[in-house]
Amino acid sequence: MTHPLTFLGIESSCDDTAAAVVRATGGAGEILSSVVRGQTALHADFGGVVPEIAARAHVERLDLCIAQALAQAGARLTDLDGIAVTAGPGLIGGVLSGLMTAKALAAAAGLPMVGVNHLAGHALTPRLIDGLEFPYLMLLVSGGHCQFLAVEGPETFRRLGSTIDDAPGEAFDKIAKLLALPQPGGPHVEREAAGGDPRRFAFPRPLLDRPGCDLSFSGLKTAVLRARDERVAAQRGLTAQDRRDLCAGFQAAVADVLAEKTRRALAAFPVSTIAVAGGVAANRAIRARLETVCDETNTRFVAPPLALCTDNAAMIAWAGIERFRLGHCDGPNLTARSRWPLDEGAAPVIGSGKRGAKA
Ligand code: KG4
Ligand code: ZN
Repeated sequence: MTHPLTFLGIESSCDDTAAAVVRATGGAGEILSSVVRGQTALHADFGGVVPEIAARAHVERLDLCIAQALAQAGARLTDLDGIAVTAGPGLIGGVLSGLMTAKALAAAAGLPMVGVNHLAGHALTPRLIDGLEFPYLMLLVSGGHCQFLAVEGPETFRRLGSTIDDAPGEAFDKIAKLLALPQPGGPHVEREAAGGDPRRFAFPRPLLDRPGCDLSFSGLKTAVLRARDERVAAQRGLTAQDRRDLCAGFQAAVADVLAEKTRRALAAFPVSTIAVAGGVAANRAIRARLETVCDETNTRFVAPPLALCTDNAAMIAWAGIERFRLGHCDGPNLTARSRWPLDEGAAPVIGSGKRGAKA
């Protein structure tokens, strides 16, 4: 039994300001509090996250989020064993806001501070909720990221494949935009798709003709745009059924690609568990396809509850605890990183989407 550790986590790398208190005794962690303040309304008029607005909002809200997280956990700063903070990758202004806050708190309270890679936070979440043992395969699918990771230790990640352009959530959001559906688009596209015919439009399955686990979603988005424009030109607008069929066809293409690439990732890294994280993991059609792959390959499927799939600070607190247990602790000169690949040995990927530079 390891010595119990209680950490405050701070997350501010994109458009969610978050703070959480997590206690770890052994096995899974215990989330004592988790506060997330989204910024969707602040960016709504701009069609994407505006880095300066995001950074300013983080500065304004971090104090309150941290105070709320501590109060909900019934903890004071002096009850903590350390502070974990996202040090990258992400929008640099936001990352800096969280990092400066963490440094000030750690110095004032005399606590150790641990800088955490945001992607490690997502990738280690199955251990926080489930006590999942290494190794396992992680599929991270969000608005900013898309990668297959071989997870072999708290700091041992091997990237098996990733998107070479857009992340799938970004593609869902763009499809929603071109069909005049609200943002963030994923849930709306899913709802429309439920009443559509996935076979009416023949959309491409990008990169399935090439070996490996890399993915691409930008050509698929263009194909949907063309199909929409053809319908509009032919009949001066879209019918409700056109919209449903376009959404269904797009979603089926994303699900097909993710399922086949997951099969390949499992073949390259044959483990008994695959875990998912990221907002797109909320999509029922995609989840169902991944579950089918798991059934076929006799693999266990672990999907954290949605609140822990999307950005939050509990995952940062947990990843900080894992790093701290390995003896890591950062000083006041810790720097914020906009790019920070989990697998430093992997070749850099091309592309930088609306959520900033991809890892
Ligand atoms: O992980 P997340 O909350 O934030 C970051 O990307 O950092 O993911 C948000 C993304 C958005 O692009 C959103 O459209 C997508 O996840 N999303 C979905 C669904 N719910 C959220 N995509 C497809 N189907 C959904 N049900
Ligand atoms: Zn994230």
